[in-house]
Amino acid sequence: MNHHDDSNFGTLAVVGLGYIGLPTAAMFASSGVRVHGVDISERAVDTINQGRAHIEEGDLDALVARCVDAGMLSAHLKPVPADAFIIAVPTPVSHDETHRPDVSYVMTAARSIAPHLKKGNLVILESTSPVGTTEQMAAVLKEMRPDLVFPGDGAKGPDVHLAYCPERIIPGRMLRELVENDRIIGGMTPTCARLAAALYKRFVQGECLLTNDRTAEMVKLTENAYRDVNIAFANELSVLCDRFGIDAWDVIGFANRHPRVSILNPGPGVGGHCIAVDPWFIVASAPEDARLIRQARVVNDHKPAHVISKVEQLLRTHPGAKVACLGLTYKPDVDDFRESPALDIAVRLTRRLPGRVLCSDPYEHALQHAGHGDLELTMVPAEHAVEQADVVLVLVGHERFRALQIAPEKIVLDTVGFLRSRGA
Ligand SMILES: NC(=O)c1ccc[n+]([C@@H]2O[C@H](COP(=O)([O-])OP(=O)(O)OC[C@H]3O[C@@H](n4cnc5c(N)ncnc54)[C@H](O)[C@@H]3O)[C@@H](O)[C@H]2O)c1
Repeated sequence: MNHHDDSNFGTLAVVGLGYIGLPTAAMFASSGVRVHGVDISERAVDTINQGRAHIEEGDLDALVARCVDAGMLSAHLKPVPADAFIIAVPTPVSHDETHRPDVSYVMTAARSIAPHLKKGNLVILESTSPVGTTEQMAAVLKEMRPDLVFPGDGAKGPDVHLAYCPERIIPGRMLRELVENDRIIGGMTPTCARLAAALYKRFVQGECLLTNDRTAEMVKLTENAYRDVNIAFANELSVLCDRFGIDAWDVIGFANRHPRVSILNPGPGVGGHCIAVDPWFIVASAPEDARLIRQARVVNDHKPAHVISKVEQLLRTHPGAKVACLGLTYKPDVDDFRESPALDIAVRLTRRLPGRVLCSDPYEHALQHAGHGDLELTMVPAEHAVEQADVVLVLVGHERFRALQIAPEKIVLDTVGFLRSRGA
């Protein structure tokens, strides 16, 4: 039994200071832990050390300023020794048809902390990861530090404790959700889980639920696959209703009056870097068994093509018509364009209908920053787009579109049921 003092973690290194790592680092710093943040991006490191957040997230800027000012948070290009380490680096999937997860960032981060590890340390992986990644990380650390005992090394209690603790915060409400959400804490041993929970409890007010690493890895993937499968059901319904000439929102609204039915909203597809990505981690690990989860990905990824074919069908009876694409982000009211089906649809329509597609998004300014500055879209204010176009294609229900006046002679294709929700 390890009688480690649970409040011993006075210093923490957070490796990867992005959307997850930076808010986490700042919350720990404000709870009294001295945080050594690490990122390979000089821009991120410099910005943080100037007391600013390099990502846009509510009150994060102010929190980072306070923590840096107080000397509790600093950013660096390299790790140093600490009591605990948290890894929050990217885990993308390949962009080819194999959609294979890439855990190389995690292993590189693990290698970067290995030389600094000492007896009594705790290492937590937060990156969304395929089942077995924490074990793989343990093997990498062990290979570099044969002098230390790691979990799984035998009967002896480990020198270094390892845990997998996924993150489920939502952009836009990250700081609040970091504190309030329940957390799944997957220790490679029960003591690892207990120590990791003790660390998070410095600021987490939600419940910390203890389990093992493989279960915690699967929980995170399950949450996103659950969302994806349920959205796929709604999206498939909308395609079927189009074929039958029925309004999908009517069908879903009536069906949801059944006491045990709760269907989600259809849309132009599924975007973002979580729900559209993480289910592939499950599929890649067990392709023969993950049939429903794979099919949900296929259904959701096909939805943009369905929207485009609806527009093209319309244009057959309205040759020369102009199309307004309203909204390009992956969901309403955020400046995030990652894996956005709306952006995909707008780009493909613009290529097919040169000079006839007008696009509008209140977060247009972030397109350039997100690496989409070279897209040849005609960006105009929403009022202009709606006025000049014959077909209004609603792709994202941004709050700022709510007051838009759309003349009755316009043909409206509302892929998200937004106009209905505003009572038009
Ligand atoms: N953003 C979300 O909403 C969210 C939610 C839940 C889970 N996640 C998961 O959390 C993980 C991180 O996601 P994110 O959104 O914070 O990514 P991000 O791209 O915003 O940040 C990752 C950071 O890690 C840095 N990095 C890469 N390799 C590094 C290394 N070897 N050492 C130090 N820094 C390194 C990058 O420069 C970047 O700043 C991913 O696995 C993601 O799936 C994200």
